[in-house]
Amino acid sequence: MTFFKYHNGILHAERVPLPVIADAVGTPVHVYSAGALRHTANRFMAALRHLPAARFAFAVKANPNTAVLRLLADCGYGADIVSGGELRRALDAGMAPSGIVFSGVGKTDRELTDALDAGIGQFNLELEEEGHVLARLAESRGVRAPAVLRVNPDIDGGTHAKISTGKRENKFGVAITEAPDMFDRLARLDGLDLHGIALHIGSQLADLKPLEAAYRRVGELVFALRSRGHAITRVDLGGGLGIPYRSGDAMPSFDDYGAMVSRVTEQWSVGLTFEPGRVIAGLAGLLMTRVIWVKPGVAHPFVIVDAGMNDLARPALYDAFHRFAAVTPNGDTMVANIAGPVCETGDTFGMAQTVDLVRRGDLAVFHATGAYGAAMASSYNCRPLSPQVLVDGDTFAVVGDRILPAELAA
Ligand code: LLP
Repeated sequence: MTFFKYHNGILHAERVPLPVIADAVGTPVHVYSAGALRHTANRFMAALRHLPAARFAFAVKANPNTAVLRLLADCGYGADIVSGGELRRALDAGMAPSGIVFSGVGKTDRELTDALDAGIGQFNLELEEEGHVLARLAESRGVRAPAVLRVNPDIDGGTHAKISTGKRENKFGVAITEAPDMFDRLARLDGLDLHGIALHIGSQLADLKPLEAAYRRVGELVFALRSRGHAITRVDLGGGLGIPYRSGDAMPSFDDYGAMVSRVTEQWSVGLTFEPGRVIAGLAGLLMTRVIWVKPGVAHPFVIVDAGMNDLARPALYDAFHRFAAVTPNGDTMVANIAGPVCETGDTFGMAQTVDLVRRGDLAVFHATGAYGAAMASSYNCRPLSPQVLVDGDTFAVVGDRILPAELAA
């Protein structure tokens, strides 16, 4: 189901024609659909709700926009955070502290302290020493920090190397083989309420098999820890499900995922936590841009648009594909290279692509930018941070202002 459709030849976000947003706000602009966010957030939950004591923590890194987080909080989501800044965002959006999970391999003492003071629901420990530091900080405040140990199951998620996190050589989690003895030592600390395990093997996973293999390893660990006398009451299964960026991409359905999780975790007797990011927000956003030039090239022309790698870094970082389409297509196509204005050859969104014919001044979009789009924006080349708009039905609101380089200048 898409909430971005053509009506009378004009691409709309829900019932708002995109040219109306371009006229009001300018380009480039990130546009989100509230309907799409709600629909996907509810469907994801519905596919997993039958699981015991399921909790849902949206991975804030995918889309930290406060209006988006508020909407997801209304749908019953907590937050998976990785920094003090994300903690602030989640709290500002009205997320209950008890629904906040703190992941991340480099939490500072300041961040741990702030999260303790906020009373968050779960710390995901990434190394043994972090457990000792957190326990000391908690004890000095007269509290016990709710914590789980993140393990690295040494499974290749089969995704891009830069977003793979579950292999032994990656920086995340503790080796699953060392987890039992480490758990024994950490569970003795008075300042920790250590009650579970977490894992996350990577993002944009197109296949459930590596996830299932990783979950099975964690299942064995749950039973091994119980046999050592530990009460294991929660497993955090992370995020990672992929979305179709290309029309032919086949991705696991939420129901297939739910069925796999049920099958694998049936005997675990734990509450389950999920940390989805991309699957919730990815298809709920697009980046609207205006064509500055159609410049002749050697094999194909360059369509130079006013959005750059500073607005959408994924193609430059991971060779990611985001479908380019005209807002008012005339039915003709062209083969072109799509590029931004930033002074790097890597500021290219696609080479030799067959796309809608566009001319100077036309509006166009990059699809599926709702996750890791604005979230990863920068002001490189002293470009503004682009505004963000949330459409709901036939209305829209600016939920993130354009931030000019002068406002960022040091
Ligand atoms: N939990 C943890 C501990 C994570 O590290 C991540 C993502 C998630 C949950 C959410 O994963 P998701 O459901 O979104 O796949 N910037 C990259 C993606 C980086 C993902 C990092 N961790 C991209 O644009 O593809």
